[in-house]
Amino acid sequence: MIPLTRQKIQNPLIPVHVGIIMDGNGRWAKKRLKPRVFGHKAGMDALQKVTIEAANQGVKVLTVYAFSTENWKRPKDEVSFIMNLPVEFFDRYVPELHKNGVKIAVIGDRSALPKATLSALERAMEVTKDNTGLVLNFALNYGGRAELVTAIHKIVREVQEGALNVNQIDEDLVGDYLETATLSKDYRDPDLIIRTSGELRLSNFLPWQSAYSELYFTDTLWPDFDEAAFREALVAFGQRKRRFGGV
Ligand code: IPE
Ligand code: IPE
Ligand code: MG
Repeated sequence: MIPLTRQKIQNPLIPVHVGIIMDGNGRWAKKRLKPRVFGHKAGMDALQKVTIEAANQGVKVLTVYAFSTENWKRPKDEVSFIMNLPVEFFDRYVPELHKNGVKIAVIGDRSALPKATLSALERAMEVTKDNTGLVLNFALNYGGRAELVTAIHKIVREVQEGALNVNQIDEDLVGDYLETATLSKDYRDPDLIIRTSGELRLSNFLPWQSAYSELYFTDTLWPDFDEAAFREALVAFGQRKRRFGGV
């Protein structure tokens, strides 16, 4: 076992792409007798710490599930609060990320986002667009099934227009029509997916891309997930035997 206190994990098997289902903010707040949104705020601090740690460990892409297509079902006030987080994120967190060479990206249906949310994200992407460090990829209003439906619409339309032949549709091509196509080809599929808060499901997070991801579940609630917790997940990943169907 590699000591977790060590700054840099001496494991050559650092995942290139890590996905995180940042869950448990509401329960974290409830435990403190605070409103749920208090947990979402605390979750932003956790994200900042984990992003910088991931960059230091050599992770190339960190895709974080921030809001699912199903999360619109929540009370209006909570949704508004979450939608406002990117605005705060821009002023409070982006400068430090930028200094660390982090590039901001977004996946999900942006058309339904409030104007202020979208413009904060666009500014963050613009400011960091030339950075060559870790890509912090926000899954915002993202749902894996919606992503596939959109991809199917595009593909069918191109077939109807004669721009695409049915025989050309293979796994590679489908990948090109998904939201993760903005990432470079070798980095699209998460090697490791972490879910906090003890729930053992993926909740519509990257269903196509996670076909061979290693899954790591922890009971830790997202706002309590810190650098050491992240390193622990990396160590667990390093001990997995990935076979991809081989021997
Ligand atoms: C995750 O925490 C954040 C979002 C889904 C936006 P939750 O808000 O789901 O927290 P719990 O699961 O209710 O504790
Ligand atoms: C998944 O968490 C979505 C995000 C973390 C953004 P949820 O809390 O929405 O998932 P369920 O409802 O427990 O499956
Ligand atoms: Mg939850």
